[in-house]
Amino acid sequence: MQPKITAKARCADREVGRISKVIVDPLSHEVSHVVVKEANGQGYERQVPVREIQQVVNEEEILLRCTAADFQQFPVLKRDEYVTIKDVEIAHLEDRLHVEPGEVLVPFPKLERDVPRRTFFANMTQAIGALIALPLVYPVLKYLMKPMYRPFDNSWFSVGNVQKIKKEGIGYQFKFIRGLKEAFMPEQKIEKNVWVVKATPEIQQAVYGGKDKKFYDEKGNVIWVNKATAPYIGYSGKCPHLGCGYKWRRTKNFPDGVFLCPCHLSIYDAAGRVLDGPAPRPLDVLPMKVDAAGEIKVIDIEYKAGVKDQIRLL
Ligand code: FES
Repeated sequence: MQPKITAKARCADREVGRISKVIVDPLSHEVSHVVVKEANGQGYERQVPVREIQQVVNEEEILLRCTAADFQQFPVLKRDEYVTIKDVEIAHLEDRLHVEPGEVLVPFPKLERDVPRRTFFANMTQAIGALIALPLVYPVLKYLMKPMYRPFDNSWFSVGNVQKIKKEGIGYQFKFIRGLKEAFMPEQKIEKNVWVVKATPEIQQAVYGGKDKKFYDEKGNVIWVNKATAPYIGYSGKCPHLGCGYKWRRTKNFPDGVFLCPCHLSIYDAAGRVLDGPAPRPLDVLPMKVDAAGEIKVIDIEYKAGVKDQIRLL
């Protein structure tokens, strides 16, 4: 049972306040803390770990293990260190969380500080599993993977018109449909997206460093060159961390907006540079051209996620 956001909080000796917010771990989707607004004194909001909740009484009241004096030792909420789940989208969170309307907070994005350790153990477990299974699955894998050894698809996709872009330095999303064939599966039509920014000279410099950017096919031949002075820059819609879709969002700390990935809260500026979070590299710039009528075309290159270098997959 989960407490309501307005539930009373009672210590062994007296009532201390009401729950005003809850804090959620975006990875486990569990409530990690309740925020209790003091009924007396300064009216501070204090972060109480859920392990301190002894009992939830009819969702209307929580009993804390501590005394009212101990309650005063819990840290005061630093609201700036959190975003609400309206600012970030966390897949399937609603399936797990049953709290009444109010603020549900997610750390922004300091929670990711312990990712390397967690990733290390997860990777090690997977690596051991893969070593044990490899002799058994290799023949099957070889068969399934065979269709993937094919030339990269360098087709151009029309995604929309630059008239949609009203302001410099802001991310605009364009969607398009492409056919994709994964290994032995029949070809599927999937919706893809690209983010396009009308670049200021500073953004051009940050992205290209004054040099045109070349793109290559699987044989190493140049297939396209993005001019360093091109007025528009397109980014792949997949986050370089683990491939989630990200959004352009205005936040308190970034009132002009940033690219914010909801999965593990990587943040990128309009030049695609990583400002925070676990992303290993900047957003992936795509080959892009704009014709005289303003129609945008891109080559939908996909790079391997989770690594520092751009390793082309598609
Ligand atoms: S997929 Fe992890 S931060 Fe985007």
